Amino acid sequence: METKTKVGIDAIGFYAPHYYLDLKNLAEARGVDVNKFHIGLGQEKMAVVPPDEDVVTMAADAGEKALRYVEKEDIHLLLFATESAVDQSKASGIFVHRLLNLPSRCRVVELKQACYSATAGLQMALPLLRENPNKKILLIASDVARYGLNTSGESSQGGGAVALVLSHNPRILAIEPESGFHTEDVMDFWRPNYREEAIVDGKYSCELYLKLVQKTWEQYSALSARTYFDHAHFCYHVPVPKLVEKAHQCLVKMNGLPKLTRAELDTQIGPSLQYGRIVGNCYTAALYLSLLSLLENTDSDLRHKRIGFYSYGSGCVAEFFSGIVQEDYQKMLDKSGHAIMLESRQGLSIEEYEAFYRFAYPVNGEALVISSNYHNGRYRLAEMDAHKRIYKALPE
Ligand code: CAA
Repeated sequence: METKTKVGIDAIGFYAPHYYLDLKNLAEARGVDVNKFHIGLGQEKMAVVPPDEDVVTMAADAGEKALRYVEKEDIHLLLFATESAVDQSKASGIFVHRLLNLPSRCRVVELKQACYSATAGLQMALPLLRENPNKKILLIASDVARYGLNTSGESSQGGGAVALVLSHNPRILAIEPESGFHTEDVMDFWRPNYREEAIVDGKYSCELYLKLVQKTWEQYSALSARTYFDHAHFCYHVPVPKLVEKAHQCLVKMNGLPKLTRAELDTQIGPSLQYGRIVGNCYTAALYLSLLSLLENTDSDLRHKRIGFYSYGSGCVAEFFSGIVQEDYQKMLDKSGHAIMLESRQGLSIEEYEAFYRFAYPVNGEALVISSNYHNGRYRLAEMDAHKRIYKALPE
């Protein structure tokens, strides 16, 4: 049953960098059997962000795509979700606000809680939209997933951005009010202010991800009185696809069903993992990339179907909620544009990947003009000067 006042996702934009590392190259360089990555993690490629792109430029590219479908003047709030922000004080979204020419009467704020904060933004936006039916909110999730070279986290890096326009009477997905959520103070993954790479207790983080899918589902299903069968599909936060498969099997088990076969898993959650498998983890954006992947890659007609969502952010906060796909959702997708973006990417050798990884920005205020030879979207980090990042938009 759909709720009367519908609020949710009206438009969606996705940007992935032009470069990727094939995990075959990583396996060979690190002396690991490639099946560990392909089968053990379910991961094939990971996006690599070039020196002149960051969470701001990726967010601007994704935001521009989402805004094709709406009047910019209607955006009165920009929520920027990230855990790889470029500044400790200024919200990354303010750079994006200028690059996208958003109205000055538009609030901008950055949200942080590991991979969960885009879901926090979504849930905080919904009551605001119910009170302001003529306004729209731009929620952008943008991240660079970065672990140490030669560490076990290295194969689960990636990067990208997903922008969502949230509104009344949304054209893609109406979010339902019931939600299960859980917070616990744990150290499974974190990044102290003085570090560029996350620190992770990998196995523990996976245990928590799986434990909280159970806790949040139990709460959500008790509040909504829905079972597994009331949902046509499920989308999960995607650190690596294999963990999502494990979470889905947990859900199946909790609902008293037998373990799914490989073929059943592929049918039920395969389409939602298609983009994540070749982009890698993009932290805050990963769950919403999974939604986009499902909408664009499933053969089924999803109109009026319910999707269950599991959001997890280390540290940790997790949430289970649901939404109903809307009548016109197909008109709001860009499957061919995304295919072109992803298929025209350039694979890097291990040396090129490590050179991108090691690229160091000045930390003493020195000026640096960043080479414009990289292939990127419409926005780039062109220079650094006196500790300031200078972003430029390329001509349309
Ligand atoms: N063929 C097939 N499978 C193989 C294999 C081979 N040759 N070699 C190993 N495998 C399998 C292993 O059996 C294992 O499978 P199971 O998990 O089913 O037992 C799988 O490959 C992975 O092997 P390991 O456990 O040895 O891998 P690892 O030590 O490299 O750790 C990881 C994997 C924990 C995901 C690590 O990549 C990591 O720490 N990543 C970053 C943290 C992360 O993504 N955590 C996820 C939850 S936290 C979260 O969700 C927030 C977030 O986004 C970070």
